[in-house]
Formats: sequence, structure tokens, C-alpha cells
Amino acid sequence: MTDQANISPAAGLRAALRTLVRPVAVVTAAHAGQRYAMAATAFCEVSMDPPSMLVCINRANATHSAVAAGADLCLNLLAADQADISQRCGGGVAAEERFAVGDWRIAAEGPPRLADACASIVLRPASIVDHATHAVVIGEVVDVWQRGLSSPLGFHDGSYLFPLAHAAINLVAQSARLGEAGAMQDGYLMLDVMRAFYWFDEGLQSALRARGWEAVSRSQSMTFANIALGVRRPADLARNLGITRQGVSKMLQEMVERDWIVIEPDPTDKRASIVAFSEKSRQLRADALEILGKIDAALGERIGSKALDALRTTLARDWGPPPEIPEPAAQ
Ligand SMILES: Cc1cc2nc3c(=O)[nH]c(=O)nc-3n(C[C@H](O)[C@H](O)[C@H](O)COP(=O)(O)O)c2cc1C
Repeated sequence: MTDQANISPAAGLRAALRTLVRPVAVVTAAHAGQRYAMAATAFCEVSMDPPSMLVCINRANATHSAVAAGADLCLNLLAADQADISQRCGGGVAAEERFAVGDWRIAAEGPPRLADACASIVLRPASIVDHATHAVVIGEVVDVWQRGLSSPLGFHDGSYLFPLAHAAINLVAQSARLGEAGAMQDGYLMLDVMRAFYWFDEGLQSALRARGWEAVSRSQSMTFANIALGVRRPADLARNLGITRQGVSKMLQEMVERDWIVIEPDPTDKRASIVAFSEKSRQLRADALEILGKIDAALGERIGSKALDALRTTLARDWGPPPEIPEPAAQ
């Protein structure tokens, strides 16, 4: 454990908060014909009788002006696949454009509601306490919409958690609970390889985001890897990614809209189509390869270059086809 007691309280608090997994909401409001949306993690419940919640809003934010003028707020609790909506509402995008992504329900009265959020909670401000740069807004709950059980979006250590990263974190927590396993192994190579893959992909994703690239989902990242390995037919991608043809078409369509890939007729089969990298994705791919090289180098520094070389050699060896494991003999 690192003892960091001698750093400033502000730096210490920031570092401590980075260790938490926070749920993410988009706080919306409408006032005088203007709509507002801002990403927020500083919110929680206050009491159940009456049901109320608080949210801390920077007084420099435009949303604060609507709340200060008495507008209701809506806390839209984001689902795991809505990191792009949080990013859009987290700054740098003009107010009205923040509603361009997501299934927003905008009524003549009241704050905008995100229909595909995990839940939306409408608050009527009951008291506002200003403290330093922020206003603590305590609101009474006047309406709640819930979309069934969907996984929430998490924010951890400065980046969004991807759904599969939750699985990796659960795996790590599980092996720690089992006690008998080492810090990074469960005794089954397949789980270790899977965790190693998540580890690389998390590093890649957060470095890409730090360079200003839009969030790439895990399946999109695996699609990029598949295309780079020469897998270009949607049916083959669906099989390799373990998702339906319909799911793969929806994902590919999103990638086309972002101008990362293009879908072209298959020169060997007129009725089929194939996927190719777009011109725009050239820089994204170059950045990804450069980052992957740096992650390899950082791993080499941590585990030693001999261990890294041995790992590389072992993984690159031809292991032959998967073994056929005989059925257990009948008792
Ligand atoms: C993940 C995330 C969490 C955030 N949490 C808060 C928060 O709790 N309170 C806050 O005032 N700003 C928070 N922000 C910053 C605001 O979302 C950001 O400043 C936004 O642009 C304000 O928009 P507005 O000026 O239109 O109101 C957060 C940003 C992100 C990306």
C-alpha cells in the first residue's frame, strides 16, 4: 500500500475518488425555451420520506442558471452502452447538439428525459446550498421512469467502464475471494488469457480516449482487430464476435456512420458485401498500433523483458487445432 498522507488534501481527495466506481447521470433542465444537459457523477439519495436526492452542480455550468431560476431537474441514470452520451454532455459540445444522440423525449414543459436510460428521476429543487465553486441542489422526487434492469454505466479512474470490463473486475474480485489463487491467475489459462486481453484493451481504450478519439466499444475494437486479420464478411465477424447477424449489422452501421469503416460489394460474390477500413480510420489505426507498442513496452518494464519475450514466443507458437477431450468413461 502506498502512503500518500503528505500530498495536499485536494490532490488526495482526487486520487481517492478515482478509486471509486461511480454511476453516471446526465442532468437535464429546461428554462425560458432553452434546454440543458450535463454529465454528472456527484449525486446521491438524501431521504425516502419525502423521497429526495442531491446533485452537486458547478455554479459556472449553464445548467446551474436553469436550476437557480427554479427549473426542475431530471437525473437520467445512464446505461453501460451510453458512454458516448455522457461524453457529449460532459463539455465541448454546444447545448442543443447534446440531444443529437440518444432517445430523448422532449415535452413542452419539464426537463428532457432519456427514454433508454436505466432510469430517469425528476427532481423539484427544495433547497440549494452554495459551497465554494458548487451548488448542492436537494430536490424532491416528483416522477420516476425505469427501463427494467439494465447494467449501469460506471466511471472509474478517469474513464468509462465497458461492459466487459465489469466482467473482468468481477473475475479479479472473485479470484481474490477464492484466496487460493495468485493475484493474477485463477489456475485456468483460458481465464488468465481473457483477463490479459481485457487488461490490454482497457489500456488501449483509455489511451485512445485521452487522444480525443470517440469511445470505441469492446465489440468495435474486436471488429477492428478482425478486419486487420483479414476477416471481412459480416457473417464471419458475427461468428467470431459471438453475436447475431442482426447485432453485427447494427454495430457495423454505427461504425459506417462514424466513418471508421466502409461496406463494399464483395468482388468474389456479387450478392455479398465485405467490410473495409475507411480512409478516416487511418489515423485511428496508426494511433492504436503506436499505443499497443507502448503498452507492450510498459509490460516489459513491469515483468522484465525475458518474461515478455517468453510470453510472446509461447503465444506465437503453433499450438495445433484445439484438443478433442474424450468423454469420461461410463461408470
Ligand atoms: C463523467 C463526468 C462527470 C461529471 N460530473 C459532474 C458533476 O457531478 N457536477 C458538475 O458540476 N459537473 C460535472 N461534470 C462536468 C460537466 O458535465 C460539464 O462541465 C458540462 O459541460 C457542463 O455543462 P453545462 O455548462 O451546459 O451545464 C462531469 C463531467 C463528466 C464527463
